[in-house]
Amino acid sequence: MPAIAIIGGQWGDEGKGKVVDLVAEQADVVVRFSGGDNAGHTVINKHGKFALHLVPSGIFSPRAVSIIANGVAINPELLLQEIDMLKSRGIDVSVSRLFISDRAHVIMPYHLILDELEEGLRGAGAIGTTKKGIGPVFADKIARQGIRIGDIVDRKNLMEQLRNILHQKNLVLTRVFEAQPLSLVKIYEDYVEYGKKLKPYVCDTTVMLEKALNEGKVVMLEGAQGTMLDPDFGTYPYATSSSPLAGGACVGAGISPTKITRILGVFKAYCTRVGGGPFPTELKDEIGDRIRERAQEFGTTTGRPRRCGWFDAVAARFSHRVNGYTGMAVTRFDILDVMPTVKICTAYRIGSKTITDFPASLATLEHCKPVYEELPGWQTDTSGVRAFKDLPAAARKYIRRLEELVGCPANLICVGPERSQTIVKSAVI
Ligand code: GDP
Ligand code: IMO
Ligand code: MG
Repeated sequence: MPAIAIIGGQWGDEGKGKVVDLVAEQADVVVRFSGGDNAGHTVINKHGKFALHLVPSGIFSPRAVSIIANGVAINPELLLQEIDMLKSRGIDVSVSRLFISDRAHVIMPYHLILDELEEGLRGAGAIGTTKKGIGPVFADKIARQGIRIGDIVDRKNLMEQLRNILHQKNLVLTRVFEAQPLSLVKIYEDYVEYGKKLKPYVCDTTVMLEKALNEGKVVMLEGAQGTMLDPDFGTYPYATSSSPLAGGACVGAGISPTKITRILGVFKAYCTRVGGGPFPTELKDEIGDRIRERAQEFGTTTGRPRRCGWFDAVAARFSHRVNGYTGMAVTRFDILDVMPTVKICTAYRIGSKTITDFPASLATLEHCKPVYEELPGWQTDTSGVRAFKDLPAAARKYIRRLEELVGCPANLICVGPERSQTIVKSAVI
């Protein structure tokens, strides 16, 4: 069995953690391939409730091994804390269960500081980043001045590398931002320590993945963030800095695009977004507040309130176009249980024009007014439903309409945060 990618279809926080935890029961390898600890993936299963930032959500599956691949930016201090937290709660995170790519880039103290300072400079135009150093670490990767996990483990050139980079970073910190310079020795010593602790987990993960795929194992690629935050296709510049797309999974894990045969887009039954940037269906009214309160829509990583709105089928169709979903998982379906009517945005109106393709331009997006289709609500508690046929007729109609508008079947419908609260409409694998 080849690879399956689980991709955020909207603006992140779609429930990827829950879906990965569920599907990982059938996987042999689970791979995080992008982002960093800006991600916050909630998993609720028989072991308890977890918010994972770096360790793959498949770590709970006794069958699967977990890989943090080359495309992830790793804050080593945080990763070590996460490993300790999992161990302290009885989860097996031994070196035969978790593998870290030697090619993954490392988040350094100056990335964290610069993320904060650069956001401050943006003023009213702030992106609303998670301040985890993501923009600065991926900028350094592309500028060819990053430090990789292999560098802190191997240490041969680390002092020289760090000296050169820190010289430049301290100039920026002191002369541009009038901030304090950072100590070379302190950073070196801290990162040598992290390198020593991480070393047993570190390897060339592409070798493992090639072997697993050749042996017909099930490889699951766990997306972080969401398609509408992609630097190419998201609402740029209100985006993240690595690709959450299925295409990003090939590069971020080091596997051939021909190996991915299933791409599951994860979509909330409505929409949320955290941070700044355009959000055409945002509800700045009591319905938006009602969704936020009922769903407890507060960020897993930052605790910020999430902006809430109706399902945006224009954005979702675009998300399908750039990913090629073979199916979707519709999550948080139960949240809509109380709504007398539900709306789906099927087009945008700009002045007298109606468009159905998601525009690239921020200026255009700001003028987009959603055109809604209104469907009757089902006003029935669906959290205990486990078969599609047992959903109320209006709920089935809503799902079928999403399938038509997005252009792919709903494989899974999630009706609660726990692993078991899922309707398998058709098999994912
Ligand atoms: P991720 O970043 O995509 O993994 O999503 P997050 O974990 O950041 O946010 C999703 C939230 O929705 C978490 O609090 C989950 O526990 C919760 N969740 C996932 N699926 C469902 C569902 O079907 N119903 C409800 N009520 N909550 C869900
Ligand atoms: P998961 O994996 C939701 C958002 C931030 C901000 C923008 C850029 O949990 O779905 P960054 O720190 O990446 O430079 O911030 O992207 N963002 C997320 N929003 N879920 C996430 O991850 C996110 N990761 C980043 O809020 O708007
Ligand atoms: Mg999240």
